[in-house]
Amino acid sequence: MSTIPLIQARSVSKDFNKGTVQALDNVSFDLDTNQITAFVGPSGCGKTTMLRMIAGLDHPTRGTLSLDGKSIENPGPERGMVFQTYTSFPWLTARKNVEYGLNILGMSRSDRRSRAMEILERVRLDHVADEYPGGLSGGMKQRIALARTLAQKPRIVLMDEPFGALDAQVRWEMQELLIELIEAEPRTVVVITHDLGEALYLADRILFFTRQPGRIKADIDLNFKKGKRIKDKQAIFDFKEYHELEKQLFSMMREEITTSRKQI
Ligand SMILES: Nc1ncnc2c1ncn2[C@@H]1O[C@H](COP(=O)(O)OP(=O)(O)O)[C@@H](O)[C@H]1O
Ligand SMILES: [Mg+2]
Repeated sequence: MSTIPLIQARSVSKDFNKGTVQALDNVSFDLDTNQITAFVGPSGCGKTTMLRMIAGLDHPTRGTLSLDGKSIENPGPERGMVFQTYTSFPWLTARKNVEYGLNILGMSRSDRRSRAMEILERVRLDHVADEYPGGLSGGMKQRIALARTLAQKPRIVLMDEPFGALDAQVRWEMQELLIELIEAEPRTVVVITHDLGEALYLADRILFFTRQPGRIKADIDLNFKKGKRIKDKQAIFDFKEYHELEKQLFSMMREEITTSRKQI
């Protein structure tokens, strides 16, 4: 039996600008297969930097970061990313946007088409498959981006504030949709969010980072869900642990921000 964690960060530190900016300091964690982990912490604590390093877009200054026990050097097709801003190509229809990445993977034309339609149906965009993103709402554009990434069946989905630009109501609809999608096709997900309610709803586990330079302040298993993700967002309000944790996370955030203010 293999005991190698899917992703392993060991004493990862990251400096920028020849060491004058320390973004992350001595960060260690393991990520298990098919878990949803939320990275939470004050602005500038290195969440995006950590995610980019997992994606292979940047590298630790010190420490090691590995995938299946192998050092992460480059991006790879087993890791897909979703960003806050809409990343669809405006000159391609929703379907062609989804097919684009599948083409790069070398999938045949008919397989591309059926996989694209399958995932567009899952994100409930099949009715606009032949429309261009420009004419669609923000939520729909972000669903194209999600579909495009998930269509490629990455084992790991890395999301940087994916719903940050959306209105509150569209946002919780997207949160519910993400849970539905991951339940239908299990994936390992890392999602950055500064929305504590979103982290508590989406995640199985929260890694809370300190202010810059980011260290792990808390590693919280959301055991109150008893391993079952919640489909209807409002059902989470019935858990007293949800409210306790939200308060706890809020004071942790306050603590980090207040401490940094004192230092200024
Ligand atoms: N390419 C870069 N060059 C210089 N500094 C950077 C670069 N990327 C990030 N930083 C700095 O590293 C710190 C962490 O940034 P980031 O990972 O974006 O934080 P977060 O996503 O948690 O808000 C910040 O101080 C930021 O200014
Ligand atoms: Mg960021």
